[in-house]
Amino acid sequence: MVKPSNSHAILQMVLHWTLAAAILFLFVSSWWMLSLPLPSDDHTYRVVPFQLHKNIGITLLLIILVMICLRWVRRLQQNAAARSALQTLADIDQWLIYALVAACCSSGYLSSSYSGWNTEFWWLIQLPAWARENDGLNILFSDLHQWSCWLLLLAIVLHIAAAIYHGLRDDALLPKMFP
Ligand code: HEM
Ligand code: HEM
Repeated sequence: MVKPSNSHAILQMVLHWTLAAAILFLFVSSWWMLSLPLPSDDHTYRVVPFQLHKNIGITLLLIILVMICLRWVRRLQQNAAARSALQTLADIDQWLIYALVAACCSSGYLSSSYSGWNTEFWWLIQLPAWARENDGLNILFSDLHQWSCWLLLLAIVLHIAAAIYHGLRDDALLPKMFP
């Protein structure tokens, strides 16, 4: 069980559930966002939901950087005991989640840049548009964005299945992420 004084464990837990809730929100809201009418002089419904989607996505990139640093600190503190095959599989799946979140964010950012739309981070900081408008590359990165999102969903399903397995075994793993 996490002790309240253990600020590292609490921060890890808060970031974990923020990441999980934000990813769920991005998936559910993106399908609604794409069903809105295309931008025109009369319809600008897409502008705010797209900016929100991009802001949350880029923030997730910062969150996983902090989570990776926390993980690194934790590993330094632990003694280098041999890890079981199951722990190694869990490590692979967790690194896959980190890599796929990074892939979703970079492909989304590049797709957005090639589509000619700016990204204003939380309506405060104008991020550089790395590229000029280019339909072909916009479609390519949009496809990569979609594929990396589906792969991320698959890695998350495996992760949740593993969490349920540990829950049924009632071992010490699940309480790591619950207060
Ligand atoms: C969108 C959903 C989710 C995502 C993206 C996600 C992502 C992650 C990541 C990246 C880690 C590694 C954390 C680290 O480096 O310390 C992790 C660990 C963990 N997650 Fe999740 N998670 C999700 C949902 C869940 C759910 C629903 C549960 C429980 C029912 C859960 C239980 C755990 C547990 C117990 C760990 C610790 C595993 C260990 O230390 O080996 N996760 N999760
Ligand atoms: C973990 C982070 C992210 C997730 C899970 C995610 C998820 C999604 C999903 C599921 C779609 C709908 C795909 C479709 O059906 O075509 C979508 C569309 C989109 N996302 Fe993301 N997204 C993330 C991050 C980002 C970021 C950081 C940006 C840009 C800075 C971005 C920009 C876009 C854009 C412009 C679209 C519209 C369709 C396209 O051009 O690909 N996304 N996103």
